[in-house]
Amino acid sequence: MCGSDLRELACEIMRCERCRLSQTRRNAVPGEGPADASIMMIGEAPGAAEDLAGRPFVGRAGAILNRALGLAGLNRGEIFITNIVKCRPPGNRQPSGEEIRACMPYLRKQIEIIGPSAVCLLGNVPAKAVLGMQGVTSLRGRIFDDLYLITFHPAAVLRNKDRMELFVSDLAKLREMLSVDHLPRDVKRNA
Ligand code: URA
Repeated sequence: MCGSDLRELACEIMRCERCRLSQTRRNAVPGEGPADASIMMIGEAPGAAEDLAGRPFVGRAGAILNRALGLAGLNRGEIFITNIVKCRPPGNRQPSGEEIRACMPYLRKQIEIIGPSAVCLLGNVPAKAVLGMQGVTSLRGRIFDDLYLITFHPAAVLRNKDRMELFVSDLAKLREMLSVDHLPRDVKRNA
């Protein structure tokens, strides 16, 4: 299982005891997808289904995410999907600042290894943790630093189905972010 840099990191995450979430999790959820994915998708934290499966977005929020990805013309299998914190907060509460700080080095390392051309931040928790920004309703659909796209968390779309159309149109922007000749990010920046 361990081997490549990304797998090595996943093994480290699965053994992690940097915060108290390690005491209540069943499985850590490092994330999944190709190591050379052009798109990364970052959620908040695993829920009950993800904690059981050890995989991200496999519950109800995952089902709506899969549907929206399909409608946006994206293939989940080509995307690296992970979360800000890799272990489930009990009762599905939001991760605390301390838990986020303990876990962020893993996400930073994943971004460094994968080197994506587009990173989709799903909701307020990833927008705040990665970009220090809050207010998804006004930030959604906007691209920052030529790399990050903010949109709703799929659970917010589940709560209000009227958001589905905007969610799909935001996700479709990820394809546009790649379409600059499919160049890697550093080349795109100098283009
Ligand atoms: N919600 C998240 O933020 N991440 C998951 O993996 C599942 C639900």
